[in-house]
Amino acid sequence: MATVVLLLALIALSIHGTTGKRGAPDGLVAASPAAPGVFDVTTFGVKHKDKVTEDETNSLNGLALGRAWNAACQSNSPGGVARLVIPKGQYEVGPALFHGPCNSSVTVDIQGTLTPNPNGSIYPESYWLLFEDVAGVTITGTGTIDGQGQPYEYCKTRPDCSGNPNIKIFNSSNVLIEGPLNSINPTFAHIHISYSRNVTVRNMKMTAPENSLRTDGVQIALSEHITITNSTISTGTDCVNIVHGSKDVTITDVNCGPGSGISIGSYYTLMDIGTSISTSLDVEGVLVKRCNFIRTTNGLTIKTLLGAQGNKVSAVTFEDLVMDHDTSPQVPAKINDIHFKNIKGTSTTRDLVNFACSPVVPCEGVEIADVDLVFDEKAILGAALPVVPPATCLNVKPIFNGKHDGINC
Ligand SMILES: *[C@@H]1O[C@H](CO)[C@@H](O)[C@H](O)[C@H]1NC(C)=O
Ligand SMILES: *[C@@H]1O[C@H](CO)[C@@H](O)[C@H](O)[C@H]1NC(C)=O
Ligand SMILES: *[C@@H]1O[C@H](CO)[C@@H](O)[C@H](O)[C@H]1NC(C)=O
Ligand SMILES: *[C@@H]1O[C@H](CO)[C@@H](O)[C@H](O)[C@H]1NC(C)=O
Ligand SMILES: *[C@@H]1O[C@H](CO)[C@@H](O)[C@H](O)[C@H]1NC(C)=O
Repeated sequence: MATVVLLLALIALSIHGTTGKRGAPDGLVAASPAAPGVFDVTTFGVKHKDKVTEDETNSLNGLALGRAWNAACQSNSPGGVARLVIPKGQYEVGPALFHGPCNSSVTVDIQGTLTPNPNGSIYPESYWLLFEDVAGVTITGTGTIDGQGQPYEYCKTRPDCSGNPNIKIFNSSNVLIEGPLNSINPTFAHIHISYSRNVTVRNMKMTAPENSLRTDGVQIALSEHITITNSTISTGTDCVNIVHGSKDVTITDVNCGPGSGISIGSYYTLMDIGTSISTSLDVEGVLVKRCNFIRTTNGLTIKTLLGAQGNKVSAVTFEDLVMDHDTSPQVPAKINDIHFKNIKGTSTTRDLVNFACSPVVPCEGVEIADVDLVFDEKAILGAALPVVPPATCLNVKPIFNGKHDGINC
């Protein structure tokens, strides 16, 4: 079949009905820095994979990494900056805790490859590499964090596939996660951010097999001022998953897909979260700009619960996006103040625009501007002529601005 270009935006808004704490590993500082402010983890007992002997379980490597971190973190390094170096080589590490607060801000320079222990039971606290209570850390390097996650087909029959993010950021601030560091095949998300503020993910490449399970790129909850920029996120599921209590999230220049796209909102309630947090669970202020969606199943998704328990999603702008062979999203939502601007692309679905909002809680303040949709049925049906795609606009009165070809509601 000839290559056919379908230009369309994937927009669907609809309504559904109702639907820990640990201590830092202390221990002795095993070595002094090689140079002022430089801490080589191998001098703290972190061993290459081929050097780990039978009686040195891999959680020792995780503990040694924690010791090296503590030394860097506690140091009063020149200029207030310490460098924690993980040299080239393969390191299999158990749970490693990077705990603050620190005296120096630390740059974690990963030059080697980190892999987890294949025995999932040595991670009882749901983390592999956890940054907790840290104000000021950069995680970067030329190396790789390889979660060694398995594709869905494998995991279906293996309960030990339930996993941990490659990097977990908890209760931290001023965090930079920067390429060329690679994150591959996590057993959960690549990066999980919660209870944190001012976290930037930049120039990163995150990959996982298309058929993997729960390998979101970046998951954000209960956090604010989060930026994801100039990154490629090709995973099985969401590129970015912005859930309850996220505020001020900016996603720019990201290549997203294959996977399910960018998802905003969640069905969680305070009861689900099981904690007495004072912050609201609403999602407020998301900008998705200059991103490409390549073979994503949902494109852009907004979802919340209905009713009193539902969290609001508001002030969301999708701008200058290109969709390439995406399929239609399903989007239950209680939303307002949502903008779609300058969106074009290709798709394999006919239902290009699907606003199915509730009569009780209509979607409000939805703007559609310069959304250029051309549907060429040839790709699907072999027909020759482009047709205008059907659109559903239930209980929503979008404000149209500029060009909006192909949306006829
Ligand atoms: C880190 O700073 C604290 C507070 O200033 C100080 O008590 C502590 O000794 C410092 N740690 C080191 C290793 O210098
Ligand atoms: C996995 O780790 C657990 C806890 O440390 C241990 O009891 C179990 O024997 C390990 N399993 C294997 C296959 O090594
Ligand atoms: C968050 O970190 C700060 C130190 O930066 C600490 O005082 C506070 O207890 C931590 N909160 C939680 C929930 O761990
Ligand atoms: C945010 O974090 C970055 C480090 O990633 C830091 O340079 C910057 O000063 C922080 N911004 C604020 C407002 O604290
Ligand atoms: C974007 O990221 C790539 C690596 O993925 C890097 O080579 C490039 O310099 C970055 N661009 C900018 C403007 O930082």
